[in-house]
Amino acid sequence: MYLGIDVGTQGSRAIAIDESGTILASGSGEHALSTPRPGWTEQDPEEWWRAVKLAVAELGGKIDLREVRGVGLTGQMHGSVFLDEGEQVIRPALLWNDQRTAVQTAAMQDLAGDQLMGIALSPAITGFQAPKILWLRDNEPENYARIESVLLPKDFVRLRMSGRRATDAADASGVLLLDVARRRWSDQLLDAFQIPAHWLPEVFEGPQDTGGINAAAAAELGLPEGTPIAAGGGDNSAAAIGTGIVREGIVSASIGTSGVVFAHADRPVADPGGRIHTMCHSVPDAYHYMGVILSAGMSLRWLRDLLLDPASGARFAGDGDPYDLLTATAADAPPGAEGLVFLPYLTGERTPHLDPDARGALVGVTLRHSVGHVARAVIEGVTFAMADCLHLISDLGVRADRVIATGGGARSDFWVQTMADVFGLPVQRTASEEGPAFGAAILGAVAGGGHSDVQTAVDACVGYSELFEPDPGRVESYRDYYGVFRALYRDHLREPSHQLAALVRDDA
Ligand code: XUL
Repeated sequence: MYLGIDVGTQGSRAIAIDESGTILASGSGEHALSTPRPGWTEQDPEEWWRAVKLAVAELGGKIDLREVRGVGLTGQMHGSVFLDEGEQVIRPALLWNDQRTAVQTAAMQDLAGDQLMGIALSPAITGFQAPKILWLRDNEPENYARIESVLLPKDFVRLRMSGRRATDAADASGVLLLDVARRRWSDQLLDAFQIPAHWLPEVFEGPQDTGGINAAAAAELGLPEGTPIAAGGGDNSAAAIGTGIVREGIVSASIGTSGVVFAHADRPVADPGGRIHTMCHSVPDAYHYMGVILSAGMSLRWLRDLLLDPASGARFAGDGDPYDLLTATAADAPPGAEGLVFLPYLTGERTPHLDPDARGALVGVTLRHSVGHVARAVIEGVTFAMADCLHLISDLGVRADRVIATGGGARSDFWVQTMADVFGLPVQRTASEEGPAFGAAILGAVAGGGHSDVQTAVDACVGYSELFEPDPGRVESYRDYYGVFRALYRDHLREPSHQLAALVRDDA
């Protein structure tokens, strides 16, 4: 039996699987999130450790933890855990969605923008870890002076479980100090930003054992002492292991709050504009491309709240799950929603615009348009934005024959069919929808000796359900609508969006 532990943003989750990938049990524990100022997000790393202990204790009520042979770790990427020489937390961790580092990212670009693109294969991005270290230097020098090590979120839990400071190449790719092609910390980047190399943990491949559970943690968790802990991966690459994205040709499209299009790559090629992330994969020596749109499921939620929230005076009523109602009425409208196009930039956009001031839009509205048309336009607009990610990935040389749909949006048959029609590719769901913890458990199974390598483990553990084939007629209609979608922001709405964002800032 193998465990996967996911240190997420809203909570930690633990699952147990057997060698064939059957889920035996799951457990969870919540985390509080603090936003001391607008745009800042922080969490107490000790709370992650407490939540992991709760999640594992819940598993212990359902299965015999003494039978666990391997553990894999995953979690939210990019966060910064600052530790002193006694390995105690110096201050709350800054998270992946924390936006306070605009000054530091601009300085990093000025100082070493070309080196970043050439080595870390990314421009400086506010949420990533290295700018957070520089923020501490600039704003809390007394805390900065106490730093002995800096860890990513899941690796803090590893430290508490094993006493070892270690990470994996995939999660390390989100720090901005990794030489992505060589899969080790870059002396050049460390020098450029004057960050001491000894602060950073040793980098392992995803399924490698980073050292077993120590006596203290074994006693606290009820797990066997010495159980191997796989290096694991950041949440996106671990989720990709769980959906079987371990060779070129298949791509995953996840619709959660945000949307992620993820592809396996044998070689790392950087997108010159930095619009697609090029990172190490949790498969040894492999890479991945990732496009991220910030408001995917969140766009439909925005519409749901607008229309169905009783607090705002429900104008669109019916029995049943509000998302089912919306997708059902959307399905009644024709493809293209009779000339309505939605841009889903409700919280700015990462791929392809890298533009925090991008704004959403509903274009082409007429008297004829009903709630169903609007719901359809929202679902199509999010899917068009995911198609933008897919096209940028194919420009990097990775062709997709098939797309695996995951996340909350993939529960809707209508949305999955829309993906097939917009992408012009067959789309399939996984047999079990367990997210990053499942991929981490698979990596734990390799570290624990249950499988020889990641591909073999994935073949044994990951299954798919029925295929949604693209409909030639709808593929044709969507080609034209997608053309309008692409041109709208790029050629027409960027300026007005920036002006509106500036007006709101001036009013504040
Ligand atoms: C990836 C990213 C998020 C976090 C959230 O670049 O910022 O997916 O990993 O958990």
